[in-house]
Amino acid sequence: MNPFTHKPCPITAGYKNFKELYPKSYNVCEVDPYTKTRIILMNGTEFEANWFSHQFARHVTDNDLRRELAMTRYAEKQQQLKVSLLKPCNESPLEHTISYEQLAVDLTAELARREPDCNVKKALDFALLEDFDHLYRYANQLEMEKGIRAEKLVGRYTEIMPGRPTIAHHRCPLDNVKRNINSKKACKETVLSTMIITAAEQQTMNYYMNITNLATNDALRKLYMEIALVEEEHVTQYESLMDSGATWLEMLLWHEYTECYLYWSCFMTETDRYIKCIWEEYLEIEIGHLHKAAELLKKYEGKEWQQVIPDGTFPEPLCLHENIDYVRSVLKNTVQFTGCREDYERVEKLPNNADFFTFQTIIAPSDDIVPSHNVICNHIKRYSSDYRFQVAENPVPELRARNCDNTMVGRVKDAANSTGFCCNK
Ligand SMILES: [Fe+2]
Ligand SMILES: [Fe+2]
Ligand SMILES: [Fe+2]
Ligand SMILES: [Fe+2]
Repeated sequence: MNPFTHKPCPITAGYKNFKELYPKSYNVCEVDPYTKTRIILMNGTEFEANWFSHQFARHVTDNDLRRELAMTRYAEKQQQLKVSLLKPCNESPLEHTISYEQLAVDLTAELARREPDCNVKKALDFALLEDFDHLYRYANQLEMEKGIRAEKLVGRYTEIMPGRPTIAHHRCPLDNVKRNINSKKACKETVLSTMIITAAEQQTMNYYMNITNLATNDALRKLYMEIALVEEEHVTQYESLMDSGATWLEMLLWHEYTECYLYWSCFMTETDRYIKCIWEEYLEIEIGHLHKAAELLKKYEGKEWQQVIPDGTFPEPLCLHENIDYVRSVLKNTVQFTGCREDYERVEKLPNNADFFTFQTIIAPSDDIVPSHNVICNHIKRYSSDYRFQVAENPVPELRARNCDNTMVGRVKDAANSTGFCCNK
């Protein structure tokens, strides 16, 4: 499938009336977990398309170009609204949060498994263990608040147990900026990965930022407060991988190409018939956006789309599915690593005056003020053990105890043994 060779529909074909815009939401009892995660992914992809376009418009002076951007942007906004409204009224924000973190785990794992660029793969593996731990923290809060076991919501496709403990995620911002790729030299899959994961993590960060003060109890408000800041770190990490040397119009083309690729992937892998039709319709709309972006690139920069994306054929569709063995191997091999400038390092290899330790003493001077730790302590107090869904014991021996939350792994020297990251190839 090459979207550049398809006949585009006009931008206005994406404009819908209010009746067309309001969808039928999914049924929480019947929906496939990965349908929920695809919806969150496309919500985030549309947000990124919309906000990239807003930023672009604030950095150019030509009003013909700004009018073109405004036309497409309105359609992106409608798309985001319709996709986000597929979530029904009777799914609580905390239940929806479980799907956000399941997406973060299984999308990150899938991208990492196919990633040829070692620098990008390391970033994915690194943050994977953090979102995996977030899932465990929220799941414990969910059982305490509503008596709901999160394994039902994730369909038992994703394990729920400690990863790199959330208390260890709080790093100095200097250690979250990585090396950017060059989209002219990188493989197409790599460019797509950096764009897809940045949009997904940004959506998660925005979701937590927006619902933190709407949560109905202090423990949950505090948990969102803490994890929203970790998602800020994830966005900083992932956006730093993106090609920051490309022009605005080149990046517009890449954004539309990414949207086309993701709607096509969703269409190819969707099991819900009604939602599959939405993905198909939106792929058509995106092909119109892509051709418009190629036209603007030609008009304003005199470049053909092939100079930016030489081979427009899509890679294999992105498929969301279980990654239990993969996550276990990354957990076993890398839990004790932290960020260290453009790379990652075992905590015991850091000098005593490393920014990581200084930052930890500023943000988390004692365990008992850290919300993600207190959630587990409270669960243990009430049920004598934490909540987990695991198919075997945790691959990290230090994370196996069910009656005591480990706050040392990934944070204190020699708190666990890790061998290191593996590249594909
Ligand atoms: Fe879109
Ligand atoms: Fe997360
Ligand atoms: Fe994240
Ligand atoms: Fe678009």
